[in-house]
Amino acid sequence: MTAALLQARNLGLSLPDMPNKPFFGAAPMKRILHDVSFTLDTGGTLGVIGESGSGKSTLARALTMLLPPQRGEVLFQGRNAGAFAAAELVAYRSQVQLVFQDPMSSLNPRRRVAAIVTQPLRALGKLAGADDAARQATQLLERVGLSAQLAGRYPHELSGGQRQRVGIARALALRPMALIADEVTSGLDVSAQARIVALLDELRRDNGLALIFISHDLSLVRSLCDQVLILRQGEVMEQGESAHVFAQPQHAYTRELLDAIPLPEPDPGWLERGVPA
Ligand SMILES: Nc1ncnc2c1ncn2[C@@H]1O[C@H](COP(=O)(O)OP(=O)(O)O)[C@@H](O)[C@H]1O
Ligand SMILES: [Mg+2]
Repeated sequence: MTAALLQARNLGLSLPDMPNKPFFGAAPMKRILHDVSFTLDTGGTLGVIGESGSGKSTLARALTMLLPPQRGEVLFQGRNAGAFAAAELVAYRSQVQLVFQDPMSSLNPRRRVAAIVTQPLRALGKLAGADDAARQATQLLERVGLSAQLAGRYPHELSGGQRQRVGIARALALRPMALIADEVTSGLDVSAQARIVALLDELRRDNGLALIFISHDLSLVRSLCDQVLILRQGEVMEQGESAHVFAQPQHAYTRELLDAIPLPEPDPGWLERGVPA
């Protein structure tokens, strides 16, 4: 039995279009998201695909109420997140964690890795002292496949892939039910990308973590996600089971995206066979 964890119902969001603001008066509103609906099941995986500017990051912000949608609803376990009081919103955001694209800008350069990954626990008063902090840091690093020896390093002393793992470890600190990963593999080389995707798949399988994996890389989405949603200019072009959408794209736009994939053949078995370290 699966249950809906997170639902978007007819989400719509507009923002002021500053470049087109007249000298006098308010900026016109620009529609960023229009009528976006989906269901993410507990432990499910949803890939969000779309070219740059299609509204993927805005959707991530709308889902976590960083940019509350003006139309439609976000339901978390059936409850309207738009109506959450401040304390409920804190609890909601600890359950649905957002991991950003660029870890170099989202990790504090002056903090060591151990302090970074345990920061959410510290902020909520959930650390019982220095020993507990060190133990929790070690556990979090191990969960994302990093050596505990990295605990004393600073972000600039890590590789891009290691930094992205630190960002994921921090997102896992509060034991969320879902992770929204926004272009977390962008800027990494192909093998580091594959290893991050393998890590996310492992977290999903071992911990039942639900995933919204935002990417413009269809081959990564195809290997990781059961469900897929194709965004174009803030509207859903196509959505459904990945296997189905990828096998029989209904929309010319999806076919164009698929034709742009460099991989000649889908290889659904590669995750099971493991990725070279
Ligand atoms: N704060 C903002 N104010 C106005 N427009 C924005 C803002 N943030 C993003 N946009 C616009 O919204 C659209 C979608 O952006 P974004 O969600 O970042 O797309 P993606 O993540 O798919 O590249 C773009 O046209 C962008 O210019
Ligand atoms: Mg984006």
